[in-house]
Amino acid sequence: MSESATVALAADNPAENDDTARDIPFYRPVANECELFEKAHRLKLPLLLKGPTGCGKTRFVAHMAARLGLPLFTVACHDDLTAADLTGRYLLKGGETVWTDGPLTRAVRTGGICYLDEVVEARKDVTVVLHPLTDDRRILPLERTGETLHAPDDFMLVVSYNPGYQNILKNLKPSTRQRFIAISFDYPPPEVETEVVARETGLEESRAALLVRLARRLRGLKDYDLEEGASTRLVIYCGNLIAAGMPMQEAIEAALIEPLTDDEDVKEGLREAIAAIID
Ligand SMILES: Nc1ncnc2c1ncn2[C@@H]1O[C@H](COP(=O)(O)OP(=O)(O)O)[C@@H](O)[C@H]1O
Ligand SMILES: [Mg+2]
Repeated sequence: MSESATVALAADNPAENDDTARDIPFYRPVANECELFEKAHRLKLPLLLKGPTGCGKTRFVAHMAARLGLPLFTVACHDDLTAADLTGRYLLKGGETVWTDGPLTRAVRTGGICYLDEVVEARKDVTVVLHPLTDDRRILPLERTGETLHAPDDFMLVVSYNPGYQNILKNLKPSTRQRFIAISFDYPPPEVETEVVARETGLEESRAALLVRLARRLRGLKDYDLEEGASTRLVIYCGNLIAAGMPMQEAIEAALIEPLTDDEDVKEGLREAIAAIID
């Protein structure tokens, strides 16, 4: 399990605004998502973020956690992740078995945000521990220790998933999803994405704008069976390569073409679409 418990106050980015002064990871709002998050936190409502990979969900949560001054417990869910990975287990330590809290339990004990990334990937038994936490009981029963933890006011559960990856087997059941208020994310609109790319890569605005145009062109190609379009994350990688001195064509190939497909014909089609914009 990849898990990081961070007190989310790490400076992410040099910049001259208020957020940097308080070491808040840069996040450029697209709509009312920041207010919605704050309200959800205040009203103790769990939050579901939907959207494609690399569009800003994780950054948004890191930003909001820092803004609210809350510790952030992030769990990247995968198909082997069980309820015990979240709640905790008895571990052998120096010949003794000692109960060790998992990230969800730590967030419930101390207060803070528990963020379950790609929650549909997790095993089914995970929903069993989420249910009592996501209704007005807000409790976490720990069968193994006999405890029932009551979530403090500061505790908030945030989960994300990517509707694009869904199949019949992996979907959130209505009984689970209707416990969350939800926000749809997508790649930011061009002005915002340009600002984000310029900011994250240090590239000047006009070059960032060009990369965003290319990405949007690739996203718009419906003829190819791409599972997902070029993410904001990839546009930033591309910009980083260029900012580090790589020729633009090579950076595009490595960051915007190769990651999207293994099919040579499709790659060729993507290159042509891009060439039409650059030339
Ligand atoms: N609105 C935004 N404000 C600031 N950065 C953004 C925004 N949207 C995307 N990003 C950038 O895109 C990158 C990928 O976003 P991330 O949050 O990791 O995606 P997701 O969790 O949706 O897969 C982030 O590291 C960040 O640099
Ligand atoms: Mg993420």
